[in-house]
Amino acid sequence: GPGIVIAIDGPSGSGKSSTSKGVARARGLAYLDTGAMYRAITWWMLRNGIEAEDAVAVADAASKPVITMGTDPSAPTVQVDGTDVAGEIRTQEVTSSVSAVSAVPAVRERLVAMQRDTIAQARRESGGIVVEGRDITTVVAPDAEVKIFLTASAEARARRRSKENSSDDVAGTQEALARRDRLDSSRAVSPLTRTADAVELETTGLGLQEVVDLVLGLADEAA
Ligand code: C5P
Repeated sequence: GPGIVIAIDGPSGSGKSSTSKGVARARGLAYLDTGAMYRAITWWMLRNGIEAEDAVAVADAASKPVITMGTDPSAPTVQVDGTDVAGEIRTQEVTSSVSAVSAVPAVRERLVAMQRDTIAQARRESGGIVVEGRDITTVVAPDAEVKIFLTASAEARARRRSKENSSDDVAGTQEALARRDRLDSSRAVSPLTRTADAVELETTGLGLQEVVDLVLGLADEAA
């Protein structure tokens, strides 16, 4: 039959990427990091001299970059106009501009359409897909078989993110995360929100494998 869709939303640093990749690998599913798509389009805007805060210019250019995502959870890739940008989309510059770019409706319309195409293809061909982001359970795939809202305390999220970035500045990281969460949760179009039918997993103090196992349990229940 058609494959399963596991939708995972949550704030920055909640462990979405590690959890989603772990679940996809364990079940042989495809994996889509929608945050990487918003980062890729933001990288292209900056590269082309378009300011993230200039919503009109961002909307005008939204259809220009060709964004290609590889959905193997063991080696996910992201390309813009055929160039690998996996490293460049994680810079401070992109991270601090991505919330403004992703608040522009034309950007979201384009990327959501691409995400739905990828999901439909994975349902047909890959046994299903794990998709992570901010609006997957609410907008991109409200019909997903498994819907999860991943959370962790602000401090735990900042600690994880600092470790990933090899930074000692946990307080500064916590401030940057809080700013991005505020922007992502307060925007007019598709803000980060938890729907009543998403299962909330609070992961503060849990190890990665424990969280992966919880999600796999929910997937087994839904199957
Ligand atoms: O997941 P990640 O932190 O890489 O996402 C980067 C940014 O992309 C988020 O802060 C948010 O502004 C945007 N985003 C979004 N919708 C998604 C995924 C990410 O608006 N589904």
